[in-house]
Amino acid sequence: MSREHAREVLAKVDSAMSSNQGRPARDSVVKILNESVPTYSWVGMYLIQGSELVLDAWSGPAATVHTRIPIGKGVCGFAAKAGRTEIVSDVGKDSRYLECFTSTRAEIVVPIFNSGGLIGEIDIDSDQLDAFTSLDREFLEAVARKIGPRCVQ
Ligand code: SME
Repeated sequence: MSREHAREVLAKVDSAMSSNQGRPARDSVVKILNESVPTYSWVGMYLIQGSELVLDAWSGPAATVHTRIPIGKGVCGFAAKAGRTEIVSDVGKDSRYLECFTSTRAEIVVPIFNSGGLIGEIDIDSDQLDAFTSLDREFLEAVARKIGPRCVQ
């Protein structure tokens, strides 16, 4: 992903969020991310409920069985516990990884915060090894900063 492409997609996210709120806004954000970035094979948003991450909006070719993930488990649970972005460049080499799709090779998980703290995360699978760069991280952290206060009530 180039910086210019990241700026364009961020503008699409902004415009979707100005015309939608809550769940419809989250549905459009995951769809925009999945459809605008070819290396993003599956895009989901988990929200924190008690001690679990619960799958909320998602966009991709198939549903995942991991609809509830305890905080601390998997790459998603690890990122939630640590409160920071996790990039796994080869899921086959990471013992924390919980498999959803056999085609997945890499994963990024980006926490979403609002003023009260961690409220959820964006989880993206890629069918390409080493798919996520520091630019993806920067871009998705910018998306998460927009979602936090405006999309999750
Ligand atoms: N792979 C994740 C589980 C969620 S699926 O990728 C949609 C993990 O290791 O936590």
